[in-house]
Amino acid sequence: MTSHTAISSRWSTRLSFMLAATGAAVGLGNIWKFPYIMGENGGAAFIVIYLLCIVALGIPIFIAELLIGRRGRHSPGYAARQLAVESKRHPAWQLTGWVTMFTGFMILTFYVVIAGWAMSYVFKSAQGMFIDANQAAITQLYRGMASSWTEMIIFTAFIVLATAIVVGNGFKQGLERTVRFAMPVMLLLLVGLAFYSSAVGDFAQAADFMFRPDFSEVTATTVLVALGHAFFTLSLASGVMMMYGAYLPASTSILSTSVWIAIADTLVALIAGLVIFPLVFAYGLTPAEGPGLIFQTLPLAFASMPLGVFIGTVFFIMLLLAAFTSAISMVESIATFVVERFDISRWAAALSTCAVLFSLSLLTVFSFAQAPWAQLDVYLFGKQLDNWFDVIEHITSNVLLPLGGLAIALFAGWAVKTQFMQAELNTSARAFKVWQFLVRFVAPVAITLVFLQLTGMLRL
Ligand code: PHE
Ligand code: NA
Repeated sequence: MTSHTAISSRWSTRLSFMLAATGAAVGLGNIWKFPYIMGENGGAAFIVIYLLCIVALGIPIFIAELLIGRRGRHSPGYAARQLAVESKRHPAWQLTGWVTMFTGFMILTFYVVIAGWAMSYVFKSAQGMFIDANQAAITQLYRGMASSWTEMIIFTAFIVLATAIVVGNGFKQGLERTVRFAMPVMLLLLVGLAFYSSAVGDFAQAADFMFRPDFSEVTATTVLVALGHAFFTLSLASGVMMMYGAYLPASTSILSTSVWIAIADTLVALIAGLVIFPLVFAYGLTPAEGPGLIFQTLPLAFASMPLGVFIGTVFFIMLLLAAFTSAISMVESIATFVVERFDISRWAAALSTCAVLFSLSLLTVFSFAQAPWAQLDVYLFGKQLDNWFDVIEHITSNVLLPLGGLAIALFAGWAVKTQFMQAELNTSARAFKVWQFLVRFVAPVAITLVFLQLTGMLRL
């Protein structure tokens, strides 16, 4: 067993931690996924259920990850191993850390490609390619980008390299400085766009859609989709929050910061809805458009609105920043692990991690580019998967995230010595009991239900 020195870097201020964690959480999940699944699952009623899931499941697991990270003071795998040893538990519990790091890395392999799309759209918009374009032209633009592997490789490579540079620069010079600049800019752009969109678009219909719940449409699946998204949107079970917890000063209150980050992430998702839906309704688009909502339909709105070139460009810059701060967060834990394990410089660790990342991202690039070798024909857990992207996305979101979350809840709730967690959480006895009840019982039961549903073993 190699022994590594504990991580000594700490967030400079509580605010810089909050920005970094919010930056990790806020991403493509808030800006395209949340609006579209909300659109498919009954709008306001979905929001209500989703909020309950964030409170009962998301926040407790968020807290668990920060507790494990801060107590462990290593990258997630080693942190989990140390806690297992200290708690005199079976060493297999360390898998909690390793599996979640792996999940984060696999998510990252397609995340950087989609971030590359956002970047490509910044240029498309700025060049005026949306001006006066009709539906067919926009669809062609989107397909042309997705199927051009040269274009996608260039943008993906750029994103990966930028990520390597930020992470290689070291924790304080790179990550902290970047999020401190990027997050406020992103939030400002988003709020500005929401005002603009409300003024230009159909605000009344959007508000009605988002805030007047109609529970008659709610099914068991709605509940399960909301639960799964609560998980994805907070970047849980992907090594991210455990890693960020390792940089937390002992004095920071994990309880209150977790609550604030969950609120911030939720607000961004709601504001994103207020940017997108007034436009969707005003321009006669459909709410349940899926990934295409942003890339295929919003340009249509930008095409005909006043100041469309400017607004469109700003929108995709914002999306790019949101995706980029999430990408950085996923590389951070892997690069830190490589430094600990191989005792090499941070630059070498970041560059080699990103070289592997880039190679694996080609699976997604060529899936969209329809390369014959990237096409598959697999049937897995009740779902038809056509290419490598489908397989990676499906396995991470629907299998590894729920399993990792279950492992974290069980590890923090049952395996790690209660007194360790109690000392880290450092709150009232009653608040601690509530948290413990949620990770011991509520989260495992809920996640098991989601998992069974998604694997098709349960039909509700
Ligand atoms: N939370 C991110 C989003 O909403 C996605 C993500 C998942 C990021 C897991 C990191 C790890 O877009
Ligand atoms: Na999110």
